[in-house]
This record gives sequence, structure tokens and C-alpha cells, in this order.
Amino acid sequence: MARIITLTVNPAIDKSTTVAGIGPNTKLRCTQPTFDAGGGGINVSRAIKKLGGTSLCSYFSGGPSGAYLKQLLDEKDIEQSITPIKGFTRENLAVTDTSTNQQYRFGMPGPPIQEAEWQNALKQLELQLNKGDYLVASGKLPPNIPDDFYVKISRIAENKEALFILDTSGEALIKAAKSRVYMLKPNLAELGALCGVTSITDLDLKSLAQEFLENNDCQILVVSLGPKGALLVTKNEMVQVPAPVVHQKSTIGAGDSMVAGMVMSLIWGKSLVDMVRYGVACGTAATMHHGTQLCIKEDADKLYEWIKQQAPILETN
Ligand SMILES: Nc1ncnc2c1ncn2[C@@H]1O[C@H](COP(=O)(O)OP(=O)(O)OP(=O)(O)O)[C@@H](O)[C@H]1O
Ligand SMILES: [Mg+2]
Repeated sequence: MARIITLTVNPAIDKSTTVAGIGPNTKLRCTQPTFDAGGGGINVSRAIKKLGGTSLCSYFSGGPSGAYLKQLLDEKDIEQSITPIKGFTRENLAVTDTSTNQQYRFGMPGPPIQEAEWQNALKQLELQLNKGDYLVASGKLPPNIPDDFYVKISRIAENKEALFILDTSGEALIKAAKSRVYMLKPNLAELGALCGVTSITDLDLKSLAQEFLENNDCQILVVSLGPKGALLVTKNEMVQVPAPVVHQKSTIGAGDSMVAGMVMSLIWGKSLVDMVRYGVACGTAATMHHGTQLCIKEDADKLYEWIKQQAPILETN
């Protein structure tokens, strides 16, 4: 059976807390923080677990924070493949101001990765990946890793006949999008960067998405649109899936929960439209809770039923 392997090149310990009012030059007394394993692929693995699936979670890790990261993932019973690094795994901070319900997210760059370290990760992946597996890479690249790291990953997936799913941004995305990718999940800004435009409106979204698919070796493009849901584009279909309105508490990990929902749908054999519906359901479910909890399956299943009842906005290319 096809396995899911997630890859996180820049993992983190995500620390979340709340405070009543944020201002300068005063001591901000926060509540007890919660700690979660974080970083793109790790979030995808955590969300997959919450949806009842399993994955091999592959990541770089170093120092005491790296050891704590392993402990957090062990507690969630997530199978791991760790590439050790000299640098210390980064720690991020999210603070919610309870007086305004606004959340402040402080992200750190992550330790530099040495060449021998990222080469090791490529070798490990080559050994682990089998034909038909889903390889999900999510997250920005940390300092020192070459911009074409995901291109190298794509080549390994291609050689192994595995299906490469990518969710990243910046130069790493622009380079990797030119290689073979089974499914790409950019948000609007990321699609803009891919298409070389500064912003995308409803007027040009569909034509830009279509043009991208025509010019690149990508089978499925899912453009996530935040509260507006997502757009599925393949060579044969274009479908917009709306997102339900919910009480939004934190958008941390919405994109990763969405990717988890989509890859699980592929494992379950759902159609591509239902895959995006479940992805949107999981992304929206992730926004219903504070902190870094990601999606809860019961919420996602309820939202999925709501989405299925909406008339699909279908366009055939
Ligand atoms: N405010 C919201 N209300 C409802 N659903 C939302 C909201 N924000 C995000 N979502 C859901 O999560 C999915 C992914 O969100 P978004 O498009 O913001 O991804 P992203 O920019 O990649 O997010 P991330 O910051 O996690 O990388 C959306 O398609 C939608 O289903
Ligand atoms: Mg994202």
C-alpha cells in the first residue's frame, strides 16, 4: 500500500501563549505556554494522524530543542526519520492578545544546514521511498540549503516513481515548480510569484492558473484562497470549492491541515474534487481552534458534509 512520507527541512518547536493586552516597555504576563512540534511537513504528519492516517515524518533536528521535538512527536505516536544537524532546532512563538483576539506570530529563521547534512537526508529518502508513495514536502528552506533542494527531491521522487506534493514559497517554490510535481498547493501570493505577477485578482486567477499548468510539469494545482476556499485546476477541470464561514481563532497550520486532508483523500481513493473539498474542510477546521492544534477530524467531517451540499462552481477547460 502507498505510504505517505513528509519532509520538513525547517522544523520548529511552536510555543503558544495568550496575554491580556500587548504594548511596549512593560512586562507582558503570559499564560502557561503550550508546546507543539511544528514546521510544514511535521504539521502535515500531525494532521494526518488526527485524521486517522499514518505517515513517516522525516526532518532535520539538532540540539536540546531537537531532542524535545522528537519527544513531542513520540508522544503523538508519529513514526520519524531524523537527519541529525549541528545547529539547534528553532523555536517559534505565537501570542494571542485576549483583549483584541489578535494573534502575533514570531517565526525564527532556523539553523543553517551543512552540505553533508542535507546530502544525508537525500540519501535516506532515496532508501525510504517506494513506487506509488506520496512524498509531501512542506515549508520554507532554512539558511544554507541550496534553492534547488526541492528540485533534487523532485528528481528522487521521479526516479522512484513516487508522487511529489509540494507546499513551499519563495525561490525554492519558483525553482521546484519547473521540475516534476504531482500536486502543488500555492496560496494566491505564491501563485503570483510563480506567474511573475505582483498580485492576482478574481479576474485573472483562472487564466493564470491554467497558463501555469500548460507550461509546467505539474498534474494538479490547488490554489488555496484562505476564507474563500480553494481552486482546483488540472488539464481537464477547473473547480472552485468554497470554505464555510466559521469562528476563526487561529490560522496556524491551515495550509498544512489542508494538505493533510488532501493526501489522506488520495489514500482513500476520493475524486480530485472531493479531495479539494476535504482539504478545504480540514484547512477551515484548523482555523476553529487556538494555537497550533491543527484540524480535528469531527470538525473536518462536518465541514466536508456542508461543502458537499454547496453547488460546485465547475468550469471545464
Ligand atoms: N479565515 C478562514 N475561514 C475559513 N477557512 C479558512 C480561513 N483561512 C484559511 N482557511 C482554510 O484553510 C485553507 C488554507 O488556507 P490559506 O489559503 O490561508 O493557506 P496558506 O496561505 O498556505 O496558509 P498557511 O499560512 O497555513 O501556509 C483554505 O483553503 C481554507 O480552506
Ligand atoms: Mg502555506
